[in-house]
Amino acid sequence: MRLDQETIERIKQTAQVADVIGDYVSLKKKGANLWACCPFHGEKSPSFSVSPAKGIYKCFGCGKAGDSVRFIMDIEGLGYGEALRHLAKKYNIAIQESPLTDEQLQAQNARESLYIVLNFAKNYYQNNLFQHDEGQSIGYPYFKERGFSDKTIKAFELGYSLDIWDAFTKDALKNGYSIDVLEKAGLTIRKPEENKMFDRFRSRVIFPIHNVSGKTIAFGARILRADKNQPKYLNSPETEVYHKSNILYGIYQAKNAIRSKDVCYLVEGYTDVISLYQAGIENVVASSGTSLTLEQIRLIARFTQNITVLYDGDPAGIKASLRGMDMILEEGLNVKLVVFPQGEDPDSYVQKIGSDAFVQYISDHASDFVTFKAELFLKEAGNDPFKRAELIKDMVGSISRIPDSIKRSVFFQKTASLMQIDEGLLITESNKLTLEKVKQKEKDAQRDNNRQRLQNDLPSGITLSTSTQSPSTFDDGMMSFSEEDSFGYEEFGGAPVTVLPTPEPTPLSSIVYATTLHEQECIRLLINHGTREVDPAVAPGITLMQYVLGEIDGLQFNTPIYQEMLMLCRQKFLEGTVADTQYFLSHPIAEIQSESINLVAEKHSVSEAWLSKHEIFVPTEVDKLADMAYTNILRLQKAHNEDLEDSYMKRLKESKDFEEQLLILGKLKEIKDRLIVIAKELGTVVVR
Ligand code: CTP
Ligand code: MN
Repeated sequence: MRLDQETIERIKQTAQVADVIGDYVSLKKKGANLWACCPFHGEKSPSFSVSPAKGIYKCFGCGKAGDSVRFIMDIEGLGYGEALRHLAKKYNIAIQESPLTDEQLQAQNARESLYIVLNFAKNYYQNNLFQHDEGQSIGYPYFKERGFSDKTIKAFELGYSLDIWDAFTKDALKNGYSIDVLEKAGLTIRKPEENKMFDRFRSRVIFPIHNVSGKTIAFGARILRADKNQPKYLNSPETEVYHKSNILYGIYQAKNAIRSKDVCYLVEGYTDVISLYQAGIENVVASSGTSLTLEQIRLIARFTQNITVLYDGDPAGIKASLRGMDMILEEGLNVKLVVFPQGEDPDSYVQKIGSDAFVQYISDHASDFVTFKAELFLKEAGNDPFKRAELIKDMVGSISRIPDSIKRSVFFQKTASLMQIDEGLLITESNKLTLEKVKQKEKDAQRDNNRQRLQNDLPSGITLSTSTQSPSTFDDGMMSFSEEDSFGYEEFGGAPVTVLPTPEPTPLSSIVYATTLHEQECIRLLINHGTREVDPAVAPGITLMQYVLGEIDGLQFNTPIYQEMLMLCRQKFLEGTVADTQYFLSHPIAEIQSESINLVAEKHSVSEAWLSKHEIFVPTEVDKLADMAYTNILRLQKAHNEDLEDSYMKRLKESKDFEEQLLILGKLKEIKDRLIVIAKELGTVVVR
């Protein structure tokens, strides 16, 4: 079963990296390269880049990189040979495959043999439906009754399992599959003590479940007649290739439509997916029996940021929509909800009113979550103030989950006007919730001793590490992705030092201490007020984040934790988003999170007392934001130049070379001049 070199070359040449990866994520062109949110790690802004010219991809977030074959290996969990076969199939490249023998089957790794036997089973059930008398007289008419066309049946590879105890197992054994593999794939159930084995699925219509690339990984099987003693649906158990919380039914058939329509419809069942697909609404997937999971939301997020939940109008359906909605919001995706008339699900409704009316119904009835909750509960609450308060709190709870501050503020406004309540009150309530959550997380984090600690034991002095990768070049040197300028870490406050490299500074401990305080103040300002306009009258639209980062561009902090936080601010800023309070308060690294909490609650311990003071505290600080920021920047510049001065002085003492001594003296003069200017400025601004 070895592939010859020539075939391998042909596959590699045909499988263009952008085309292969495009099946999994939406790539957006930016310069010579394409960008997307990385399919290998959860992220909200794209750091995954693809270079069609070089035929490779690289994620700046998680570091995964490779060519089209490596991509398939990683994303599908395949070996090299299987990945090549996968690509050969996609591009219709012929490979000589000899029929399977026992030996070869055993030689394959477990996953690959599962895929093979699951594919065999899918073909077997499909064959029953179309070729077998029983399938033709029982299974096929059932699908017809449900309104499924032949084309639809084939698109979803639907099948039928015979009303015989072990028809499938026998056939599979005859074809060389081992009983072990059949059992591991969840297809055969074995009772060794009774020396019995039988098919899991019997006398049911079969819905194969596909992974993103179209491989069959499991089955759902529906009973044909109502029978109280049997479940309506039987599903494959969890296997090495099927984890039901990671997959969505229909994703393979839907992914292209989801990407092009830029919205994903989320329904509950197999038949909802199939009926909508047949009606021409192809961007639809189902969570199929499980309640929506984070992994499922992330799977959708590879293709779109917009989810519309189409659940039944019954209480169970509504409850499920609400739960799913909060998770979707928390993942940073946009969610809308549609409820169907009592007794209807998407399947029945689209068959009843037809596809045009159905599309119209969705566009008329899709509401954002605030409106959805209002419509759902406002009538019930009526004028009861307690019930109204509960509803408002509930809405705020959902809004607080949204990571993006601008989106949050849109929904605060909406809630304020819908519920006729002061927006400021909603924000205060939301802050309270966030802090409670943060405190809880803190507790959890403290209990967890295994958390990796930040490197706090770095020697003091200018940190030269570039701990955050900037998207300027690939570290493996394979190619250059220079799309944006990286932050230059040159000497601060002047032209880059080219004649003399910046020496390792050895600042006095007292200076380090002072610097630490200024660095702390800088980070404190950034995380508390980064999104605020620094001086609306003078520079409307310029945020504090933008202003400060611009002024201290190239400056490195001495204190590792603040350097780390500064890098996060810069990184987010480069990505076009803002590292706001919420971002830091919910940061996954415990040290960063707890430092943020300290800085947000500074001078006012994190308590109810602080919260009630919050409204008084913030406006006063906000009023003098521009002066505070400017003072802080000057102090940082002063400290940094003093550090530099110390280092050059040390170099000067050690230098034996006259030329070098002259250069150093020149440097020292420049630094002195800068320090004089800074001191003058510091004298003129109002210092807190
Ligand atoms: N489901 C399941 N196991 C069950 C019941 C339901 O896995 N015992 C899942 C199936 O994915 C099903 C979905 O939950 O499609 C929704 O359930 P239901 O509305 O009962 O199923 P429908 O697919 O709408 O079934 P029907 O053929 O009756 O329309
Ligand atoms: Mn149904």
